[in-house]
Amino acid sequence: AVTRTFSIIKPDATRRNLTGAVTKMLEDAGLRVVASKRIHMTKEQAEGFYAVHKERPFFGELCEFMTSGPVVVQVLEGEDAVKRNRDIMGATNPADAAEGTIRKTFAEGIEANSVHGSDSDENAAIEIAYFFKPEEIVG
Ligand code: CMP
Repeated sequence: AVTRTFSIIKPDATRRNLTGAVTKMLEDAGLRVVASKRIHMTKEQAEGFYAVHKERPFFGELCEFMTSGPVVVQVLEGEDAVKRNRDIMGATNPADAAEGTIRKTFAEGIEANSVHGSDSDENAAIEIAYFFKPEEIVG
């Protein structure tokens, strides 16, 4: 089925001017950008977005990294969008990511791993609503 997922192009990627290169890999993987905006997340936004990780040892650093520069938040649409996006992103740790994936190609490390993608349809809906109003999504 055609579904939607939520993606973030992270500060390590925007800093290296890779917004277009990352988006091209998403598009080449069969995903369509149906919403997109460049924002500089506040600490509150980052902490809210990553609330599921708040007990993790890397939570503070992660929120600091995600607010260290601009990000591009996107809604992606395609056949099985969550899985399709996860496949093209590759493993969280670029050392474990397969050849040809975004993280293998571009990520600097496990934290500065260039992209975020939702891990389920349920979380995709929550994450999309966290950053986008319905009228900002144009399918
Ligand atoms: P993301 O898919 O956005 O979800 C949580 C993020 O936490 C992850 O990508 C990484 O950026 C970061 N992360 C995950 N594991 C670690 C770790 N062990 N150390 C530092 N950051 C991590």
